[in-house]
Amino acid sequence: MSSRIVTVEPFDLVVFGGTGDLAYRKLFPALFRRFLDKQFHKPTRIIAVARQEMQTDEFRGAVEKALAHVCHGSMQQSDEVACFIKLVDYINVDALGELGWAELVARLNDNKNRVRAFYLATGPDLVGPIVKRLAAHDLVTEEARIIIEKPIGHDGISAGRINDVIGQVFAEQQIYRIDHYLGKETVQNLMALRFANALFEPLWNSGHIDHVQITVAESIGVEGRGAYYDKSGALRDMVQNHLLQLLCLIAMEPPVSLDANAVRDEKLKVLKALTPIDSTNVTSLTVRGQYRAGVSDGAAVPSYLYEIGQEQSNTETFVALKAAIANWRWAGTPFYLRTGKRMPRRVSEITIAFRRIPHSIFLRETGPIAETRLTIRLQPDEGIKLWLMLKEPGPGGMRLKHVPLDMSFAEAFSGDPPEAYERLLMDVIRGNATLFMRRDEVEAAWNWIDPIFDAWNELREPPRSYIAGSWGPSASIALIERDGRNWIGDDG
Ligand code: BG6
Repeated sequence: MSSRIVTVEPFDLVVFGGTGDLAYRKLFPALFRRFLDKQFHKPTRIIAVARQEMQTDEFRGAVEKALAHVCHGSMQQSDEVACFIKLVDYINVDALGELGWAELVARLNDNKNRVRAFYLATGPDLVGPIVKRLAAHDLVTEEARIIIEKPIGHDGISAGRINDVIGQVFAEQQIYRIDHYLGKETVQNLMALRFANALFEPLWNSGHIDHVQITVAESIGVEGRGAYYDKSGALRDMVQNHLLQLLCLIAMEPPVSLDANAVRDEKLKVLKALTPIDSTNVTSLTVRGQYRAGVSDGAAVPSYLYEIGQEQSNTETFVALKAAIANWRWAGTPFYLRTGKRMPRRVSEITIAFRRIPHSIFLRETGPIAETRLTIRLQPDEGIKLWLMLKEPGPGGMRLKHVPLDMSFAEAFSGDPPEAYERLLMDVIRGNATLFMRRDEVEAAWNWIDPIFDAWNELREPPRSYIAGSWGPSASIALIERDGRNWIGDDG
């Protein structure tokens, strides 16, 4: 995607959990791509720290391997890798003990004035101990930032505790809570679409919008993350953060500017306006499912229970729900959300279904008049489709057809879109927190999610089973069909 590169000042990035999956799979490739685009340069330093004993050269070799898939084997890029890995260092640090801290301090303190960012690519249990040690070793300078990955807690109370611990050491504006969905190009395009065009905003309310659908479907299963996932489930893993953030961007009032707090204030109002789902309405507004064995991408795949090596589990791998936003703009417009693992294909899509026309001037033979629909495809094949009724060409009467104005971002803009982490990491260095979650947002999201869990627990019903490779339990179809609507985009 053609873009203007704004370089950033040299910085120090310390990655805790530097030998972990997230670091190798997402962070180093993202940093390398920004390096290739010359967005940063020497004397930037990337210091990976972890408990594993390793020499810097050995670690650089591991990073080089991790970057192989980014380079597509090109010689020129191999040279670039060689330059990039010289920026990367490794220190053996124990987050729970004293090992390695003196060396980290010595390394960082030779330049106290530049931006330093601490990325905690670790389990949530290590957040407290690391933050305390950063403070004890006086590493939290004015230009320091901390980057925290989700999950931030497993409910409102635990999230509050984590936020308290971080808040004792870092000021709120130094804390960057990552929701990688906010770094996706098309998600940012939601804001461009709404606020850089005069067309949609006047129609963006319950007077004109019948309902909204958000689908985040994955074809993969739990991929070796069973231990984490089984304690989490789809509601905590996906809805509390990614889907609610998407909902906020669609539903929020226009912020006065793109300033971080202006945007986050508006998102917070949406979260606070969500109508509670609790034991009084949970059965009619939510569906939870768990996949059994089936076929995905043409291959037989095992059940969730088999994947996590358990005989029994009450964890949902699919959730569908009907949310309502109790404010003037949205009263009467439901938001249907669904997400699941082992769906027929990977697709993340938002559909805005406008209300039908109030009166048809066309004859019956013209055929039914479908609603105008705006579909924003987040991934894959990012793009926007505006579904309209148009006349089918030809003589002999008026026949109308529902057809899309179809814009594919890959065709409209050249090159690959940057990965979410590329944008987000550079935003941290620049000190731009617009695409990160503020403390009160995280806690407001939990405040809406917690009663759903409590209600499920009270019900004591196991998740409904669905076949891997399907669109979830049939109750999810019933959830929307009861309202005379259907999930858009399902081919099954
Ligand atoms: C993560 C979840 O936050 O998002 C994973 O923990 C999920 O379970 C992933 O697979 C989906 O992200 P993406 O970018 O592949 O849609």
